[in-house]
Amino acid sequence: MNVYDRWILPRLTDLAMRNKEATRYRSQLVPKASGTVLEIGAGSGLNLPFYGTAVDRLYALDPSEELLQMARKKAGAARFPVEFLMHTGEELPLDGRCLDMVVTTWTLCTIPDPAKALKEMRRVLKPGGTLLFAEHGLAPDASVRVWQDRLNPFWRKVTGGCNLNRKMDQLIQDSGFTIVQLDKAYAKGLRPMSFIYSGCAQPNISGS
Ligand SMILES: C[S@@+](CC[C@H](N)C(=O)[O-])C[C@H]1O[C@@H](n2cnc3c(N)ncnc32)[C@H](O)[C@@H]1O
Repeated sequence: MNVYDRWILPRLTDLAMRNKEATRYRSQLVPKASGTVLEIGAGSGLNLPFYGTAVDRLYALDPSEELLQMARKKAGAARFPVEFLMHTGEELPLDGRCLDMVVTTWTLCTIPDPAKALKEMRRVLKPGGTLLFAEHGLAPDASVRVWQDRLNPFWRKVTGGCNLNRKMDQLIQDSGFTIVQLDKAYAKGLRPMSFIYSGCAQPNISGS
């Protein structure tokens, strides 16, 4: 791993993800989590202060050692046990059907194989469990999409693999979830980076 990815990128990620709009989405989404919860791509732990008392246990998973170190510092204030898992979302180190909820914020854009990760999320969720998500992705306007496609190769390089042009609702549905609630809107900021899909989904009963 080069110096940029190891030392600079984690700090830039933490700084960038502290923005006001992301915080607004976190404050609306994360308090809905309850029971035994897994957060995929927990990063520097910016969602931690928003989990409420309905959470019994949180697994915070991320492949970045540096980001998890930052997250560990925030876990002391949590009112429930937090277990950190240094792992990728594509292969979850958890038994099947053991979780009530999975949370993902600004992470499906970065996971190299998001369909595989969503399949894993489905595996570990109990029947009737919930996926809570807030993700940026493909915009509805052709003029914005052009820029998302143009910028994507450069953007991926400087952000550690983040993609601007994934159609998040379709990705979630195609991976065996039914979307129960969905809000799609531009957040404040540069349009190619700020079209947000937020809501919740449940694993299909048939598993397909
Ligand atoms: C833009 S950051 C978002 C961090 C955090 N979710 C937040 O809302 O602040 C993207 C995160 O995805 C994580 N990530 C990258 N590849 C991943 C993978 N294969 N599985 C799970 N997480 C991954 C990164 O380490 C990083 O923490």
